[in-house]
Amino acid sequence: MIRIAPAARKKQIPPPIIKNRYVLVEEIGRGKTAKVHRAWDRKNDSEVAVKLPIVPECLLAKEIFENEGNALGQVRHPNIVQIIEHGESEFGRFIVMELVKGRCLNDIMARRMLSLKKRLMVLADLCNALAAMHEAGIVHRDVKPKNIIVCEDERAKLLDFGYANVRSGFSCKHLTRERFGSPFYSAPELTINSGDPRLDVYSLGIMMYEMLLKNAPLRVMIAIRLLEIQHSFKHLKRQVFTGRISQLAGEIIEAAVHKDPLKRYNSAAAMGETLQMLLRNIE
Ligand SMILES: Nc1ncnc2c1ncn2[C@@H]1O[C@H](COP(=O)(O)OP(=O)(O)O)[C@@H](O)[C@H]1O
Ligand SMILES: [Mg+2]
Repeated sequence: MIRIAPAARKKQIPPPIIKNRYVLVEEIGRGKTAKVHRAWDRKNDSEVAVKLPIVPECLLAKEIFENEGNALGQVRHPNIVQIIEHGESEFGRFIVMELVKGRCLNDIMARRMLSLKKRLMVLADLCNALAAMHEAGIVHRDVKPKNIIVCEDERAKLLDFGYANVRSGFSCKHLTRERFGSPFYSAPELTINSGDPRLDVYSLGIMMYEMLLKNAPLRVMIAIRLLEIQHSFKHLKRQVFTGRISQLAGEIIEAAVHKDPLKRYNSAAAMGETLQMLLRNIE
């Protein structure tokens, strides 16, 4: 029998295992503070997603993770990613969630992959997700295409509750309101009023504008676009929202992105109802 000398054996590095249960397989996504892995749950023999901080010792990341774990633990909804467990591990804080199979909405928009009806259905799903969260007293505050996955059945799931405003319990030292949100999608009043569901309605309105008008992300020339939306909307509406997309789509966006939150839809549910009306008119 031929014996292979130990030095000649191929060195196998064992995959990291969280809590002696979740075997990390590969990185599938990355944001500002976190990386997300596809992993194998040894207890349930199933695939899961494990979110870990990029810098485990970062205090801000710890707060964001704790905040997200608390928020996700309070809602269960088909259009919101389902949490399995969260806590502290040998790799810093961790969150285990269902593995959402699909594509990031940002990619889908860039590749113009969805029909008009499917785009409206994604938006209606997001209204439902946000309505459920708002009902639970949680405002997401970071609604944007990168935090949404469109699943294989073309329904949307909302992710990334790190900046959510959870009504009870958790207080943040490091997570100040200046730190969160993405400027293009954030309502103008974000830094002065950080707990109003209409913040999410605004972000959804901007996404609807991007998805219907250009069917693509518009992150270039942010300032000009914002001016376009906030100041020349009536003009735009006359020009673009006639015929195929219809006047109603323009009215929904206008009512969602109004600079004055009191003139916006007062809930994601109300915006969702008008979207359903629009959907009924589209083949
Ligand atoms: N449960 C999940 N299933 C599949 N992919 C996920 C899941 N959660 C996050 N991702 C992917 O990882 C990326 C980063 O995750 P996210 O929670 O947004 O991190 P960050 O808080 O750093 O922005 C997402 O944009 C998404 O593509
Ligand atoms: Mg994110």
